[in-house]
Amino acid sequence: MKQSPAAGAASRSPNAEPVVARTVAELRALVAGWRRDALSVGLVPTMGALHAGHLSLVETARSACDRTIVSIFVNPKQFAPGEDLDTYPRTWDSDLAALRTAGVHAVFAPLPTEMYPTEHATTVSVSGLTDCLDGIARPGFFDGVATVVSKLFLQAGADRAFFGEKDFQQFLVVRRMAADLDIPIRVIGCPTVREADGLALSSRNTYLSAAERALAPHLHEELQKAAARIAAGVAASADTCADAVAALESIGFGPVDYIEMRDAETLAPVTGSGPLTRPARLFAAAHLGTTRLIDNIAV
Ligand code: PAF
Repeated sequence: MKQSPAAGAASRSPNAEPVVARTVAELRALVAGWRRDALSVGLVPTMGALHAGHLSLVETARSACDRTIVSIFVNPKQFAPGEDLDTYPRTWDSDLAALRTAGVHAVFAPLPTEMYPTEHATTVSVSGLTDCLDGIARPGFFDGVATVVSKLFLQAGADRAFFGEKDFQQFLVVRRMAADLDIPIRVIGCPTVREADGLALSSRNTYLSAAERALAPHLHEELQKAAARIAAGVAASADTCADAVAALESIGFGPVDYIEMRDAETLAPVTGSGPLTRPARLFAAAHLGTTRLIDNIAV
């Protein structure tokens, strides 16, 4: 859908108050009004605790669509028992202020009971792409993500949705889910935003102590070193990944859940040496104290 200049990003000046929808009915009524005016709609799903990575998704959405919705919902279904559901940062006032400044048109912030009334009984599960990496390290995680994102897609009826490539496996899973369920939405992956020292931005980085924060950029550094070695044909990628795991564990990361090279579309393992015939990515997940960090880069 084309963006009409009159209706585009410029039509909502930064610092104007976004509409806050708390219910699916409110969201649908808002979007129906935009549809009557033939405006295109972009959706940026988030769990709040917004940082510059989220705001870059908003910027991309605003430049591609006439109207931008940001959803803020800490989705209980993607947290396993013992994970950080209760302590996940909830920063409503600063999130709303940032979205106001960013020129977002609407914020969808439902209560858990709105998303999952007691009679809710449906789980969306994507096979194949979830049989590796975080699909193994975090059982149930992608079912939770696919379930909430399919609901958000159907509730918002947006033309496009924007996801950060820091969660690359999530992006692939969501794209597959939308295609398989014939949800008419384009799922767009956007580049990872990093701190100056290379650490990928994440709402969970706030959990890191000062000492852990100093170590954290080594995750990206080891991925870069491994990618360079693989590209230079120095060793089989499986050996290079094992070396990177050992290097991280030797400086205080632990446990490292995985460092693996995989096909960038199918997530099939790429373990040998020699020239790559298809786009591949290196994926990493590692614990640092009580924080779990993930990252990935193209090789
Ligand atoms: O990446 C996230 O913040 C979440 O997994 C998402 C996509 C908003 C679903 O809850």
